[in-house]
Amino acid sequence: MQRLISCLILSLTSISAFAMSHGHTKHETTHHGKAHTTNDTRQEVVFPAPVYDHTLKSMREHLEAVHAVIDAIGTGDFDGASEVAERGLGIGHQHGPDGLQSGHAYMPPGMRKLGHQMHMNARDLVVTLRNADVTGDTQKVLTSLKEVTAQCVACHKAYRLKKGD
Ligand code: HEC
Repeated sequence: MQRLISCLILSLTSISAFAMSHGHTKHETTHHGKAHTTNDTRQEVVFPAPVYDHTLKSMREHLEAVHAVIDAIGTGDFDGASEVAERGLGIGHQHGPDGLQSGHAYMPPGMRKLGHQMHMNARDLVVTLRNADVTGDTQKVLTSLKEVTAQCVACHKAYRLKKGD
């Protein structure tokens, strides 16, 4: 009975630890002497602390930009949406004052490619939005926006970051 209770406590502790970390760390817990890991298969990429902080800040800006783009599309303001997309998601979105904080140097090639593809698709989105300002083709806009968010999803599925020194 005592064994059962301590095992239960152990499980609860590891579940809450996992929930708190949002899957950022791999937890290895031993139950009944059997080791198991969470099924987080994302590749861990180490960024130096300042680059790490800057990257997450930039990510939050990306999400804000996606939100603002959707907001503008909803009100039919395609021109406004194109400006937000260009500033917040496109090549125009500078990672750091000179791009040096972008983390490119620390990314595995696959990750770099996804990042590049996201900015390319954002550029297409800007063009689609400018056209929609004339045509009003919302469906095309949403398809184009989806091509951007597809890169967010793909990269988040494949990689996670670790704060280095
Ligand atoms: C090239 C890869 C890549 C692309 C593309 C990408 N992200 Fe991320 N993003 C990451 C990684 C890696 C993390 C850290 C995840 C982790 O460590 O669990 C992250 C974290 C985030 C976070 C959390 C920020 C924080 O403060 O913790 C947000 C929000 C986010 N991304 C939004 C986006 C959005 C929106 C897009 C697309 C417009 C996007 N990202 C595109 C790789 C990417």
